[in-house]
Amino acid sequence: MHVCVTGASAGIGEGLARAFAARGASLSLLARRKERLEVLAAELGDATLALEADLVDPKRAEASVVAAEAALGPIDVLVNNAGVQIVAAAERTDPDAGEALLSLNVATPLRLIRHVLPGMLARKGGTIVNVASMAALSPVPGMLYYNASKGGLANASEALRGELAGTGVNVVTVYPGPVHTDMGARAIVRYEQTLAARLAPWGTVDELSKLVVAAVERGRARVIYPRSYAASLHFPNLSRWLSLKLAPALRD
Ligand SMILES: NC(=O)c1ccc[n+]([C@@H]2O[C@H](COP(=O)([O-])OP(=O)(O)OC[C@H]3O[C@@H](n4cnc5c(N)ncnc54)[C@H](OP(=O)(O)O)[C@@H]3O)[C@@H](O)[C@H]2O)c1
Repeated sequence: MHVCVTGASAGIGEGLARAFAARGASLSLLARRKERLEVLAAELGDATLALEADLVDPKRAEASVVAAEAALGPIDVLVNNAGVQIVAAAERTDPDAGEALLSLNVATPLRLIRHVLPGMLARKGGTIVNVASMAALSPVPGMLYYNASKGGLANASEALRGELAGTGVNVVTVYPGPVHTDMGARAIVRYEQTLAARLAPWGTVDELSKLVVAAVERGRARVIYPRSYAASLHFPNLSRWLSLKLAPALRD
């Protein structure tokens, strides 16, 4: 089984790589920091390929995936995990950085899905994992482009699952709440004075990674983690109201 993980040099992507390796998968690991990928690949064994790739440009990202397939064969599980976050007041957000975020967080995952899908359909099997965010269900003030990216990716992912029903190809949408990673640590610095930050349950990379692997193996539709955030699926209006009320304006 060839599992391709984008953004595998740190955080959730690194955890997912470890969790899939523990299930005996061959892995292609993509990110910019090659040294980190190589250390991880050496630890995970011979069937792991480290590929230095800046995934912000969808066409270049697709070329990296072609290289991964040339080395390890067709991709059985594509994990669209690489992402960045910008936390700032909307009027202070750099639009160029925002558009690069949209490219990395949405356009590249869709390009990679478009690339692997014909092969998966022909083989009548495969899984696409899209790491969205709880921001897709309860958007957080102060993340103009990030909210758009995760809402867009989650919507595309959920609809694609329906579109592919009966084909043998599954789509798993992942909705992490705050998770202890570099990204999580940077976000909390901006939100730490807020009630939202004090009340929000946090999760770990290891636990999330195990849940994602189990969802892939069992053909599940989605992972919401920590589990307490699943309430927002049943009470979406309350969840959005809380998110809007408790988060800061970020204007000082
Ligand atoms: N942590 C959270 O609280 C949280 C919550 C909800 C959703 N998420 C989502 O989970 C995913 C992983 O987040 P994380 O917390 O693990 O973040 P992280 O620790 O900052 O790791 C991000 C990963 O993405 C890669 N990446 C960033 N820009 C890239 C680029 N231009 N090209 C290739 N790779 C790039 C990084 O690798 P290089 O820097 O080496 O390129 C790194 O491997 C993201 O999509 C994020 O939005 C995280």
